[in-house]
Amino acid sequence: MEGIDVALTVGIHDIALATGHYALSLEDLAERHGVDPGKYTVGLGQTTQTVPATDEDIVTMAAAAAKQIIAEHDAGDIRTVLLATETGIDQSKAAAVYVQDLLGLSSSTRAVELKQACYGGTSALQFAAGLVHRDPEQRVLVLASDIATYDVDSAGEATQGAAAVAMLVSADPAVAVLEPTSGLYTANVQDFWRPNYRSTPMVDGKLSVSLYLEAAEQAWKDYEARGGRAIEDFAAFCYHQPFTKMAYKAHARLLEIHGIDAQMARLDADLAHTTSYNRLIGNSYTASLYVALLSLLDHAEDLSGRSVGMLSYGSGCVAEFFGLSMVPGYRQRLRTSSNQDAIARRESISYERYRAIRDFELPEDGSSTVLEVDGAGGFRLRAVTEHSRMYEACHPIQA
Ligand code: CAA
Repeated sequence: MEGIDVALTVGIHDIALATGHYALSLEDLAERHGVDPGKYTVGLGQTTQTVPATDEDIVTMAAAAAKQIIAEHDAGDIRTVLLATETGIDQSKAAAVYVQDLLGLSSSTRAVELKQACYGGTSALQFAAGLVHRDPEQRVLVLASDIATYDVDSAGEATQGAAAVAMLVSADPAVAVLEPTSGLYTANVQDFWRPNYRSTPMVDGKLSVSLYLEAAEQAWKDYEARGGRAIEDFAAFCYHQPFTKMAYKAHARLLEIHGIDAQMARLDADLAHTTSYNRLIGNSYTASLYVALLSLLDHAEDLSGRSVGMLSYGSGCVAEFFGLSMVPGYRQRLRTSSNQDAIARRESISYERYRAIRDFELPEDGSSTVLEVDGAGGFRLRAVTEHSRMYEACHPIQA
Protein backbone atom coordinates (compact mmCIF):
# COMPACT_ATOMS: atom_id res chain seq x y z
CA MET A 1 0.00 0.00 0.00
CA GLU A 2 1.28 3.44 -0.83
CA GLY A 3 1.90 5.65 2.19
CA ILE A 4 1.63 9.41 2.56
CA ASP A 5 4.81 11.25 1.61
CA VAL A 6 5.47 13.22 4.79
CA ALA A 7 8.37 15.09 3.13
CA LEU A 8 5.96 16.61 0.62
CA THR A 9 5.20 20.26 1.38
CA VAL A 10 1.54 21.22 1.09
CA GLY A 11 -0.05 24.57 1.74
CA ILE A 12 -1.44 27.79 0.32
CA HIS A 13 -0.41 28.32 -3.28
CA ASP A 14 -2.56 31.40 -3.82
CA ILE A 15 -4.99 33.44 -1.72
CA ALA A 16 -7.54 36.15 -2.59
CA LEU A 17 -10.10 38.33 -0.83
CA ALA A 18 -13.59 39.62 -1.62
CA THR A 19 -15.99 41.60 0.48
CA GLY A 20 -19.41 43.19 0.09
CA HIS A 21 -20.53 46.41 -1.56
CA TYR A 22 -21.40 48.71 1.36
CA ALA A 23 -19.75 49.92 4.55
CA LEU A 24 -21.42 51.15 7.74
CA SER A 25 -19.53 53.40 10.14
CA LEU A 26 -19.31 52.14 13.72
CA GLU A 27 -19.56 55.74 14.88
CA ASP A 28 -22.99 55.96 13.22
CA LEU A 29 -23.99 52.67 14.82
CA ALA A 30 -22.79 53.89 18.22
CA GLU A 31 -24.94 57.02 17.84
CA ARG A 32 -27.94 54.84 17.06
CA HIS A 33 -27.16 52.60 20.06
CA GLY A 34 -26.68 55.64 22.31
CA VAL A 35 -23.15 54.64 23.34
CA ASP A 36 -19.82 56.46 23.22
CA PRO A 37 -18.24 55.74 19.81
CA GLY A 38 -15.03 54.86 21.65
CA LYS A 39 -16.72 51.71 22.89
CA TYR A 40 -16.75 50.38 19.33
CA THR A 41 -13.72 52.09 17.79
CA VAL A 42 -11.40 51.58 20.77
CA GLY A 43 -13.11 49.04 23.06
CA LEU A 44 -13.89 46.60 20.24
CA GLY A 45 -11.32 47.96 17.78
CA GLN A 46 -13.68 48.37 14.82
CA THR A 47 -14.05 51.34 12.45
CA THR A 48 -16.51 50.14 9.81
CA GLN A 49 -18.34 46.92 8.92
CA THR A 50 -19.13 45.53 5.48
CA VAL A 51 -22.81 45.33 4.59
CA PRO A 52 -23.50 43.18 1.52
CA ALA A 53 -25.82 44.50 -1.19
CA THR A 54 -29.21 42.84 -1.61
CA ASP A 55 -27.93 40.85 -4.61
CA GLU A 56 -24.80 39.62 -2.81
CA ASP A 57 -24.50 36.56 -0.60
CA ILE A 58 -21.92 33.96 0.44
CA VAL A 59 -21.94 32.45 -3.06
CA THR A 60 -21.28 35.71 -4.92
CA MET A 61 -18.52 36.72 -2.47
CA ALA A 62 -16.86 33.29 -2.62
CA ALA A 63 -17.01 33.30 -6.42
CA ALA A 64 -15.56 36.83 -6.54
CA ALA A 65 -12.61 35.76 -4.36
CA ALA A 66 -12.06 32.49 -6.25
CA LYS A 67 -12.30 34.07 -9.68
CA GLN A 68 -9.06 35.97 -9.02
CA ILE A 69 -7.31 32.66 -8.36
CA ILE A 70 -8.63 30.65 -11.25
CA ALA A 71 -7.80 33.52 -13.62
CA GLU A 72 -4.12 32.80 -12.90
CA HIS A 73 -3.92 29.03 -12.57
CA ASP A 74 -4.86 25.97 -14.52
CA ALA A 75 -8.36 25.34 -13.18
CA GLY A 76 -8.21 21.84 -14.65
CA ASP A 77 -6.07 20.74 -11.66
CA ILE A 78 -8.84 21.65 -9.23
CA ARG A 79 -10.64 18.44 -8.33
CA THR A 80 -12.27 19.62 -5.11
CA VAL A 81 -14.05 22.77 -3.95
CA LEU A 82 -14.55 23.02 -0.18
CA LEU A 83 -16.72 25.93 0.94
CA ALA A 84 -16.86 26.69 4.64
CA THR A 85 -19.64 28.89 5.98
CA GLU A 86 -21.91 29.30 8.96
CA THR A 87 -24.39 31.45 7.02
CA GLY A 88 -25.38 28.84 4.47
CA ILE A 89 -28.19 29.48 1.99
CA ASP A 90 -29.50 25.92 1.92
CA GLN A 91 -29.88 23.09 4.42
CA SER A 92 -28.95 20.46 1.85
CA LYS A 93 -27.24 21.70 -1.29
CA ALA A 94 -23.66 22.88 -0.90
CA ALA A 95 -22.97 26.51 -1.79
CA ALA A 96 -19.77 25.13 -3.35
CA VAL A 97 -21.89 23.68 -6.19
CA TYR A 98 -23.14 27.13 -7.18
CA VAL A 99 -19.57 28.45 -7.08
CA GLN A 100 -18.25 25.54 -9.17
CA ASP A 101 -20.86 26.40 -11.79
CA LEU A 102 -20.30 30.18 -11.69
CA LEU A 103 -16.57 29.68 -12.16
CA GLY A 104 -17.04 27.20 -14.98
CA LEU A 105 -15.00 24.54 -13.21
CA SER A 106 -14.96 21.03 -14.60
CA SER A 107 -17.88 18.76 -13.76
CA SER A 108 -15.21 16.22 -12.71
CA THR A 109 -15.06 18.05 -9.39
CA ARG A 110 -16.27 17.27 -5.88
CA ALA A 111 -17.98 20.29 -4.30
CA VAL A 112 -18.86 20.27 -0.60
CA GLU A 113 -19.87 22.63 2.19
CA LEU A 114 -18.34 22.45 5.68
CA LYS A 115 -19.63 23.83 8.96
CA GLN A 116 -18.36 24.39 12.47
CA ALA A 117 -19.02 28.04 13.14
CA CYS A 118 -15.99 30.25 12.46
CA TYR A 119 -13.63 27.25 12.59
CA GLY A 120 -15.01 25.82 9.31
CA GLY A 121 -12.43 27.53 7.08
CA THR A 122 -9.57 25.95 8.98
CA SER A 123 -11.17 22.53 8.79
CA ALA A 124 -11.43 23.00 5.01
CA LEU A 125 -7.76 23.95 4.81
CA GLN A 126 -6.69 20.89 6.79
CA PHE A 127 -8.94 18.52 4.81
CA ALA A 128 -7.64 20.03 1.58
CA ALA A 129 -4.07 19.33 2.70
CA GLY A 130 -5.03 15.69 3.32
CA LEU A 131 -6.44 15.38 -0.21
CA VAL A 132 -3.31 16.89 -1.73
CA HIS A 133 -1.07 14.58 0.30
CA ARG A 134 -3.06 11.67 -1.14
CA ASP A 135 -2.71 12.94 -4.70
CA PRO A 136 -0.13 15.74 -5.08
CA GLU A 137 -1.20 16.34 -8.70
CA GLN A 138 -4.51 17.74 -7.50
CA ARG A 139 -5.30 21.19 -6.20
CA VAL A 140 -8.13 22.04 -3.85
CA LEU A 141 -10.05 25.31 -3.88
CA VAL A 142 -10.83 26.28 -0.30
CA LEU A 143 -13.44 28.99 0.20
CA ALA A 144 -14.41 30.64 3.46
CA SER A 145 -17.39 32.95 3.02
CA ASP A 146 -19.73 34.48 5.58
CA ILE A 147 -22.09 37.32 6.37
CA ALA A 148 -22.05 38.03 10.09
CA THR A 149 -25.31 39.51 11.34
CA TYR A 150 -26.91 39.81 14.77
CA ASP A 151 -30.28 41.08 15.92
CA VAL A 152 -30.67 44.81 15.29
CA ASP A 153 -30.03 46.96 18.35
CA SER A 154 -28.24 44.08 20.08
CA ALA A 155 -24.68 44.29 21.43
CA GLY A 156 -23.56 41.91 18.70
CA GLU A 157 -24.61 44.36 15.96
CA ALA A 158 -21.29 46.18 16.43
CA THR A 159 -19.45 42.99 15.47
CA GLN A 160 -21.08 42.34 12.10
CA GLY A 161 -19.33 42.22 8.71
CA ALA A 162 -18.87 40.10 5.60
CA ALA A 163 -16.05 38.72 3.46
CA ALA A 164 -14.81 35.70 1.56
CA VAL A 165 -11.28 34.35 1.25
CA ALA A 166 -10.33 31.86 -1.44
CA MET A 167 -7.20 29.70 -1.14
CA LEU A 168 -5.69 27.35 -3.64
CA VAL A 169 -4.15 24.45 -1.72
CA SER A 170 -1.45 22.51 -3.51
CA ALA A 171 1.80 20.59 -3.20
CA ASP A 172 4.93 22.72 -3.33
CA PRO A 173 2.97 25.91 -2.55
CA ALA A 174 4.17 29.38 -3.50
CA VAL A 175 2.76 31.30 -0.50
CA ALA A 176 2.82 29.29 2.74
CA VAL A 177 3.55 25.73 3.84
CA LEU A 178 1.03 24.29 6.28
CA GLU A 179 3.17 23.01 9.14
CA PRO A 180 2.30 19.48 10.25
CA THR A 181 1.70 20.06 13.97
CA SER A 182 -1.75 21.15 15.13
CA GLY A 183 -3.11 21.81 18.59
CA LEU A 184 -6.80 20.99 18.92
CA TYR A 185 -9.57 21.67 21.41
CA THR A 186 -13.28 20.80 21.27
CA ALA A 187 -15.88 21.40 23.99
CA ASN A 188 -19.68 21.18 23.83
CA VAL A 189 -20.69 24.70 24.92
CA GLN A 190 -23.51 27.15 24.07
CA ASP A 191 -21.81 30.49 23.49
CA PHE A 192 -23.07 31.14 19.95
CA TRP A 193 -25.32 29.01 17.77
CA ARG A 194 -28.05 29.43 15.17
CA PRO A 195 -31.02 27.05 15.17
CA ASN A 196 -32.30 26.21 11.67
CA TYR A 197 -35.35 28.41 12.09
CA ARG A 198 -33.39 31.58 12.88
CA SER A 199 -31.65 34.01 10.52
CA THR A 200 -29.57 35.56 13.32
CA PRO A 201 -27.57 33.68 15.93
CA MET A 202 -28.24 33.16 19.59
CA VAL A 203 -25.22 34.50 21.45
CA ASP A 204 -24.01 34.88 24.99
CA GLY A 205 -21.41 37.55 24.21
CA LYS A 206 -19.48 37.58 27.49
CA LEU A 207 -19.43 33.78 27.68
CA SER A 208 -18.22 33.60 24.07
CA VAL A 209 -15.26 35.85 24.85
CA SER A 210 -14.21 33.80 27.87
CA LEU A 211 -14.69 30.49 26.04
CA TYR A 212 -12.61 31.78 23.10
CA LEU A 213 -9.78 32.61 25.53
CA GLU A 214 -10.02 29.21 27.23
CA ALA A 215 -10.11 27.41 23.87
CA ALA A 216 -7.07 29.37 22.62
CA GLU A 217 -5.12 28.37 25.73
CA GLN A 218 -6.12 24.71 25.47
CA ALA A 219 -5.38 24.51 21.72
CA TRP A 220 -1.97 26.06 22.36
CA LYS A 221 -1.24 23.58 25.18
CA ASP A 222 -2.14 20.68 22.88
CA TYR A 223 0.10 22.20 20.20
CA GLU A 224 2.99 22.42 22.68
CA ALA A 225 2.41 18.88 23.94
CA ARG A 226 2.63 17.57 20.37
CA GLY A 227 6.05 19.10 19.81
CA GLY A 228 5.01 22.36 18.17
CA ARG A 229 7.25 25.39 17.88
CA ALA A 230 8.17 27.56 20.85
CA ILE A 231 6.14 30.76 21.08
CA GLU A 232 9.23 32.87 20.35
CA ASP A 233 9.72 31.07 17.01
CA PHE A 234 6.76 32.87 15.44
CA ALA A 235 7.25 36.12 13.55
CA ALA A 236 3.58 37.07 13.98
CA PHE A 237 0.25 35.64 15.15
CA CYS A 238 -3.10 35.64 13.36
CA TYR A 239 -6.24 35.12 15.40
CA HIS A 240 -9.88 34.70 14.48
CA GLN A 241 -11.17 38.25 14.89
CA PRO A 242 -14.86 38.71 15.68
CA PHE A 243 -13.57 42.20 16.57
CA THR A 244 -9.91 43.14 16.50
CA LYS A 245 -9.60 43.64 20.27
CA MET A 246 -10.32 39.92 20.62
CA ALA A 247 -6.97 39.13 19.00
CA TYR A 248 -5.25 41.28 21.60
CA LYS A 249 -7.07 39.55 24.45
CA ALA A 250 -6.20 36.09 23.11
CA HIS A 251 -2.58 36.91 22.43
CA ALA A 252 -2.20 38.44 25.89
CA ARG A 253 -3.48 35.14 27.32
CA LEU A 254 -0.96 33.15 25.30
CA LEU A 255 1.91 35.39 26.39
CA GLU A 256 0.82 35.32 30.02
CA ILE A 257 0.80 31.51 30.22
CA HIS A 258 4.45 31.71 29.14
CA GLY A 259 5.25 34.30 31.79
CA ILE A 260 5.78 36.96 29.08
CA ASP A 261 4.70 40.48 29.98
CA ALA A 262 1.82 41.26 27.60
CA GLN A 263 2.56 44.94 27.25
CA MET A 264 0.87 46.87 24.45
CA ALA A 265 4.17 47.33 22.59
CA ARG A 266 4.70 43.57 22.46
CA LEU A 267 1.07 42.92 21.49
CA ASP A 268 1.26 45.53 18.73
CA ALA A 269 4.54 44.09 17.44
CA ASP A 270 2.99 40.63 17.15
CA LEU A 271 -0.48 41.64 15.97
CA ALA A 272 -0.89 45.15 14.57
CA HIS A 273 -0.49 44.25 10.90
CA THR A 274 -3.04 41.44 11.25
CA THR A 275 -5.90 43.72 12.27
CA SER A 276 -5.95 46.42 9.55
CA TYR A 277 -8.41 44.69 7.21
CA ASN A 278 -10.59 43.17 9.94
CA ARG A 279 -10.96 46.60 11.60
CA LEU A 280 -12.64 47.79 8.38
CA ILE A 281 -14.49 44.64 7.29
CA GLY A 282 -15.76 43.49 10.69
CA ASN A 283 -16.39 39.87 11.55
CA SER A 284 -16.47 37.50 8.60
CA TYR A 285 -16.76 34.31 10.67
CA THR A 286 -14.99 31.51 8.69
CA ALA A 287 -13.01 34.02 6.61
CA SER A 288 -11.91 36.22 9.51
CA LEU A 289 -8.66 34.37 10.38
CA TYR A 290 -7.62 34.37 6.73
CA VAL A 291 -8.52 38.05 6.33
CA ALA A 292 -6.11 38.58 9.25
CA LEU A 293 -3.46 36.56 7.40
CA LEU A 294 -3.93 38.67 4.25
CA SER A 295 -3.73 41.84 6.31
CA LEU A 296 -0.45 40.64 7.80
CA LEU A 297 1.07 39.62 4.48
CA ASP A 298 0.00 42.85 2.76
CA HIS A 299 1.44 45.08 5.49
CA ALA A 300 4.42 43.29 7.08
CA GLU A 301 8.05 43.27 6.03
CA ASP A 302 9.19 40.20 4.13
CA LEU A 303 8.44 37.12 6.28
CA SER A 304 10.11 34.62 3.93
CA GLY A 305 11.25 31.56 5.85
CA ARG A 306 9.46 32.74 9.03
CA SER A 307 6.53 31.06 10.73
CA VAL A 308 3.17 32.66 11.45
CA GLY A 309 1.06 31.27 14.32
CA MET A 310 -2.62 30.78 13.42
CA LEU A 311 -5.39 30.45 16.00
CA SER A 312 -8.79 29.43 14.67
CA TYR A 313 -11.86 29.53 16.95
CA GLY A 314 -15.40 28.48 16.15
CA SER A 315 -18.07 28.85 18.81
CA GLY A 316 -19.72 25.79 20.09
CA CYS A 317 -16.71 25.18 20.19
CA VAL A 318 -13.63 23.99 18.24
CA ALA A 319 -10.21 25.66 18.25
CA GLU A 320 -6.99 24.86 16.43
CA PHE A 321 -3.49 26.32 16.66
CA PHE A 322 -1.10 25.67 13.79
CA GLY A 323 1.82 27.28 11.97
CA LEU A 324 2.28 28.54 8.43
CA SER A 325 5.81 28.76 7.10
CA MET A 326 6.17 31.57 4.57
CA VAL A 327 7.71 30.50 1.28
CA PRO A 328 10.58 32.69 -0.01
CA GLY A 329 9.24 34.88 -2.81
CA TYR A 330 5.63 34.68 -1.54
CA ARG A 331 5.26 38.45 -1.83
CA GLN A 332 5.17 38.23 -5.60
CA ARG A 333 1.92 36.28 -5.23
CA LEU A 334 0.12 38.86 -3.13
CA ARG A 335 -2.73 41.00 -4.42
CA THR A 336 -2.15 43.86 -2.03
CA SER A 337 -3.59 46.62 -4.19
CA SER A 338 -6.68 44.66 -5.21
CA ASN A 339 -7.29 43.61 -1.58
CA GLN A 340 -7.01 47.20 -0.42
CA ASP A 341 -9.19 48.35 -3.29
CA ALA A 342 -11.93 45.81 -2.44
CA ILE A 343 -12.16 47.37 1.01
CA ALA A 344 -11.65 51.01 -0.03
CA ARG A 345 -14.20 51.00 -2.84
CA ARG A 346 -17.09 49.99 -0.61
CA GLU A 347 -19.82 52.61 -0.64
CA SER A 348 -20.45 54.26 2.73
CA ILE A 349 -24.08 54.11 3.76
CA SER A 350 -26.18 55.75 6.43
CA TYR A 351 -27.70 53.80 9.29
CA GLU A 352 -31.11 54.21 7.62
CA ARG A 353 -29.88 52.66 4.37
CA TYR A 354 -28.31 49.81 6.32
CA ARG A 355 -31.62 49.15 8.03
CA ALA A 356 -33.43 49.13 4.68
CA ILE A 357 -30.97 46.49 3.44
CA ARG A 358 -31.45 44.48 6.64
CA ASP A 359 -35.22 44.65 6.16
CA PHE A 360 -35.02 43.39 2.56
CA GLU A 361 -36.26 39.79 2.40
CA LEU A 362 -36.21 37.20 -0.34
CA PRO A 363 -39.54 35.43 -0.91
CA GLU A 364 -40.08 32.30 1.18
CA ASP A 365 -43.40 31.26 -0.42
CA GLY A 366 -42.07 30.08 -3.79
CA SER A 367 -42.99 33.26 -5.62
CA SER A 368 -40.55 34.81 -8.08
CA THR A 369 -38.41 37.87 -7.55
CA VAL A 370 -35.95 39.35 -10.01
CA LEU A 371 -33.49 41.40 -8.00
CA GLU A 372 -32.49 44.91 -8.97
CA VAL A 373 -28.79 45.42 -9.52
CA ASP A 374 -27.46 46.64 -6.18
CA GLY A 375 -23.83 45.56 -5.73
CA ALA A 376 -21.04 45.93 -8.28
CA GLY A 377 -19.17 42.65 -7.79
CA GLY A 378 -18.30 40.14 -10.48
CA PHE A 379 -21.24 37.90 -9.56
CA ARG A 380 -24.75 38.55 -8.36
CA LEU A 381 -27.92 36.87 -7.24
CA ARG A 382 -30.22 37.56 -10.17
CA ALA A 383 -33.51 36.01 -9.09
CA VAL A 384 -35.26 33.66 -6.75
CA THR A 385 -38.02 31.54 -8.22
CA GLU A 386 -39.80 28.48 -6.87
CA HIS A 387 -37.41 28.54 -3.90
CA SER A 388 -34.36 28.36 -6.19
CA ARG A 389 -31.57 30.91 -6.37
CA MET A 390 -30.32 31.99 -9.80
CA TYR A 391 -26.92 33.60 -10.06
CA GLU A 392 -25.13 35.35 -12.87
CA ALA A 393 -21.62 36.46 -13.69
CA CYS A 394 -21.57 40.19 -14.39
CA HIS A 395 -18.27 40.06 -16.29
CA PRO A 396 -16.98 37.31 -18.52
CA ILE A 397 -14.58 34.99 -16.66
CA GLN A 398 -11.01 35.52 -17.81
CA ALA A 399 -9.30 32.51 -19.30
N1 CAA B 1 -14.12 53.91 25.20
C1 CAA B 1 -13.26 52.88 25.07
N2 CAA B 1 -13.59 51.60 25.43
C2 CAA B 1 -14.81 51.38 25.92
C3 CAA B 1 -15.74 52.41 26.08
C4 CAA B 1 -15.35 53.73 25.69
N3 CAA B 1 -16.17 54.77 25.82
N4 CAA B 1 -16.87 51.88 26.61
C5 CAA B 1 -16.65 50.55 26.74
N5 CAA B 1 -15.41 50.25 26.34
C6 CAA B 1 -14.77 48.93 26.25
C7 CAA B 1 -15.09 48.00 27.39
O1 CAA B 1 -14.28 48.25 28.53
C8 CAA B 1 -14.79 46.67 26.74
O2 CAA B 1 -13.41 46.44 26.67
P1 CAA B 1 -12.74 45.24 27.52
O3 CAA B 1 -13.46 43.99 27.14
O4 CAA B 1 -11.33 45.25 27.05
O5 CAA B 1 -12.93 45.62 28.95
C9 CAA B 1 -15.24 46.89 25.29
O6 CAA B 1 -15.32 48.29 25.13
C10 CAA B 1 -16.59 46.28 24.97
O7 CAA B 1 -17.48 46.67 25.97
P2 CAA B 1 -18.52 45.60 26.56
O8 CAA B 1 -17.80 44.32 26.89
O9 CAA B 1 -19.30 46.25 27.63
O10 CAA B 1 -19.41 45.38 25.26
P3 CAA B 1 -20.77 44.62 25.11
O11 CAA B 1 -20.99 43.67 26.23
O12 CAA B 1 -21.85 45.60 24.83
O13 CAA B 1 -20.54 43.77 23.77
C11 CAA B 1 -19.58 41.78 22.82
C12 CAA B 1 -19.32 43.17 23.41
C13 CAA B 1 -19.97 40.83 23.96
C14 CAA B 1 -18.32 41.29 22.14
C15 CAA B 1 -20.75 41.89 21.79
O14 CAA B 1 -20.39 42.75 20.75
C16 CAA B 1 -21.15 40.55 21.21
O15 CAA B 1 -21.93 39.81 21.80
N6 CAA B 1 -20.63 40.19 19.99
C17 CAA B 1 -20.93 38.92 19.32
C18 CAA B 1 -20.20 37.75 19.94
C19 CAA B 1 -18.72 37.82 19.74
O16 CAA B 1 -18.21 38.50 18.88
N7 CAA B 1 -17.98 37.04 20.55
C20 CAA B 1 -16.56 36.95 20.42
C21 CAA B 1 -16.02 35.61 20.86
S1 CAA B 1 -16.90 34.27 20.04
C22 CAA B 1 -16.21 34.16 18.48
O17 CAA B 1 -15.14 34.67 18.26
C23 CAA B 1 -16.97 33.50 17.42
C24 CAA B 1 -17.62 34.50 16.57
O18 CAA B 1 -17.03 34.97 15.57
C25 CAA B 1 -18.94 34.95 16.89
